[in-house]
Amino acid sequence: MVTYKAKMVERIHLPPREDRERAIEDAGYNVFNLDAEDVFVDLLTDSGTGTMSQDQWAALIRGDESYAGATSFDRLESAVADVMGFPHVIPAHQGRGAENVLYGTLLEADDVALNNTHFDTTRAHVANQGADPVDCQIPGAPDPRAQGDFKGDFSLERGREVVSAVGEDRIPVVIQTITNNSAAGQPVSVENTRAVAEFAAEIDATFVIDACRFAENAHFVTERESGYGGSTVAEVAREQLELADAIVMSGKKDGLSNVGGFVATDDPELADRCRQRAILYEGFPTYGGMAGRDMEALAVGLREAVEPGYVEDRIAQVRTLASLLEARNVPVYTPTGGHAVYLDAEACFPHLASSAFPGQVLVCELYREGGVRGVELGSFAFPGTDRPELVRLAIPRRTYHREHFEHVADTAAAALERADEVTGLEIRTEPEVAELRHFTAELEPVSG
Ligand code: F0G
Repeated sequence: MVTYKAKMVERIHLPPREDRERAIEDAGYNVFNLDAEDVFVDLLTDSGTGTMSQDQWAALIRGDESYAGATSFDRLESAVADVMGFPHVIPAHQGRGAENVLYGTLLEADDVALNNTHFDTTRAHVANQGADPVDCQIPGAPDPRAQGDFKGDFSLERGREVVSAVGEDRIPVVIQTITNNSAAGQPVSVENTRAVAEFAAEIDATFVIDACRFAENAHFVTERESGYGGSTVAEVAREQLELADAIVMSGKKDGLSNVGGFVATDDPELADRCRQRAILYEGFPTYGGMAGRDMEALAVGLREAVEPGYVEDRIAQVRTLASLLEARNVPVYTPTGGHAVYLDAEACFPHLASSAFPGQVLVCELYREGGVRGVELGSFAFPGTDRPELVRLAIPRRTYHREHFEHVADTAAAALERADEVTGLEIRTEPEVAELRHFTAELEPVSG
């Protein structure tokens, strides 16, 4: 049941079709290049795009902007300790800043990092250290139709294979991303987290949880994992996170904030090493790239994320969008995950090979048809990997309503009616770092 009402609104508008046609062409068929004011329903990401509560806005005023020793940092520290269970907090400007701090501290050239599935910035930070990011997802994860309660789990079998192949000395870090963003936002069971923690201890690796969507994950555990039916989201969140040696967090997701992030750990020695690197890249350890007011909003947001009712409503929104799409025969990844509905672009455009980027074609069609912005997470975003051709429609927190979702579903259905007419895309220009190409590459329709 919904637990909030709107107090402030932002005007949106749907530009006429000919303007949308021109805008997508001018953007090089890459929706990251669109002006946000030309987007009607923006499902590009759930990161930093949500609506803050009145308590968060009120907390902003309290921001202590001292360079060192700010009380706003103390409030963030106690929120992290209470909600997530870690005493040492190293703030960063956002999640990837925290990734740089932690992985820059833990990894060296020729190391291997294991993860259930690396998110793109995680993969890039591991690679930036000269280390090798290896995914260990369970076999059903890439299949949009395979059923399973915890398709986000880490495959220990795959992890052990990598250990035999490269030797445990080369694997200083084992990561688990909850929920698993790059595997369609699928949850991870506490049982799997516990097993991965033991595996990491066996090979003497630091066990890191990427906790961006920890509250959503905890909600799925209360719904699906045996033994947790009577637990609260707050209880599960702490139990699961405390299994890690350290966590990396983007406050822009389940911190319910527009910016911010941190590393947290119970290991004082690791915390000290992270602080040294944080000073170089983020800022003094009691602000780390965040304004005092941002730390205040994040401290309140973390507590709200585990309040009764909040996540239930959020997951219900994701399910509403998925069922509206399914009712219009739009192929979606099932079961739906935490923060987004993922469309199966291969099933939408079976006539397009993956080299013609069916997912990116679908993203452009959604914009052209209804001013809806999603993001491709397939062969365009992840070159050289064998990913399913998915398009993510991520739902900003506490922001859109059923009418918006109905528009999105109608738009997708209209785009599919003309599926036979669409042609593929090819890349016109792309940046040097292949892992980051979907942010800035430009495309054009395949000629001929
Ligand atoms: N880890 C995961 C699992 C993420 O989903 C993200 C960001 C990050 C780390 C990095 O955090 O953006 O604060 O620097 N995901 C966003 C998304 C961008 O759209 O899924 P950040």
